[in-house]
Amino acid sequence: MSTLAGKHIVLGLSGGIAAYKSAELCRALVKAGVTVQVVMTEAAEHFMTAVTLQALSGRPVYTSQWDAREGNNMAHINLSREADAIVVAPASADFMAKLLHGRADDLLSLMCLARPIDQVPLIVAPAMNREMWANPATQRNVAQLRVDGVHMLDVGQGDQACGETGDGRMLEADEILEDLEAFFTPKVLAGRQLLVTAGPTYEAIDPVRGITNLSSGKMGFAIARAAHMAGAHVTLVAGPVSLPTPRGVRRVDVRSARDMLQAVEQNVGAAQVFISTAAVADWRPATSADQKIKKDGSGQTPQLGFVENPDILATVAKSPRAQAGELFCVGFAAESHDLLAHATAKRERKGVPLLVGNIGPATFGQDDNALLLVDAQGARELPHASKQVLATQLIEDIARRLGALKA
Ligand code: CTP
Repeated sequence: MSTLAGKHIVLGLSGGIAAYKSAELCRALVKAGVTVQVVMTEAAEHFMTAVTLQALSGRPVYTSQWDAREGNNMAHINLSREADAIVVAPASADFMAKLLHGRADDLLSLMCLARPIDQVPLIVAPAMNREMWANPATQRNVAQLRVDGVHMLDVGQGDQACGETGDGRMLEADEILEDLEAFFTPKVLAGRQLLVTAGPTYEAIDPVRGITNLSSGKMGFAIARAAHMAGAHVTLVAGPVSLPTPRGVRRVDVRSARDMLQAVEQNVGAAQVFISTAAVADWRPATSADQKIKKDGSGQTPQLGFVENPDILATVAKSPRAQAGELFCVGFAAESHDLLAHATAKRERKGVPLLVGNIGPATFGQDDNALLLVDAQGARELPHASKQVLATQLIEDIARRLGALKA
């Protein structure tokens, strides 16, 4: 379930062509279980109608501080007191300048000024032309708004409505949604560095063929996302998968087990936690042909010999930092049967404090799973749920083990 479920958000629109994305954002927020109260400036109404946003939010939109619907005629007080956050998207350059100066000549700016500053966070998604964004006045305003406690979202980069290309686009609705989810997630891994491996590896037979497995990478990607939301700096070493990189996560793509080991060794130095979810191929062809192996018409099949791949998890778990307790290693076990027995034995064999077991054939490629957490004390089940929910629970469990979160 989204961390946004049950929240009440005031979605403020100031004037900008990016207002069309706010309609989508409004819809996505409602879908995530948020009640959305839309407030628009007069300029915003030139780009998007209040009718559209009323239909999407299911609530009348406020556009004026003189709105007589409020019994006490104080919409700026009433609306801001009810909110878990005010999100201004799009925030124009002019609107940010207003916020900076504490001006209050329309309902949205008045409401931002009148909000209880310690209880109602203000989250701002800027949107403007690249020159306006780069202008020292705007950059000065952004820096000062941060100092004033405003949570500034990034801007996107790319083609702009004006025909120019550069920084200043408003983030897409799904990116803002992701950032809002992260904003409301408790920061149980604040400042920690995590390294996660995910997906299968691919071991080449020749330039067009190879051996791999059915791992989709979804569990590892969900863990990387949950760790980032929990405040960690995350590096994700991914085998060949077709999944989007979770927002805010640094991704290193690899192909073979040996590439993965190299990437892990290059990135593990700064990590405090290593989570090895990758389904690393146990063996690779002893030789990989430079050219495609052709049929010769004789009916003979090529004779493939195999050699064992390095065990990445066991290698890391034996490293001095892991042995000294500076690096917490978590292994995964994809089994087909006798999960508890195999996971318990595997934990000892790999030399890791925590091993997470799951039934491989039941979960490969799926969006849900069930996990068994095995440590030196015994086993604990995380019952069947979406991979994202399980990832969040696993991250909380790891945070407790690191002492960052009370048991
Ligand atoms: N692993 C690894 N490098 C390998 C093989 C496995 O890092 N070459 C890691 C996986 O990422 C996982 C754990 O080891 O965290 C267990 O992987 P699994 O394939 O289930 O275990 P194996 O050691 O290969 O044992 P078996 O195949 O016999 O079950």
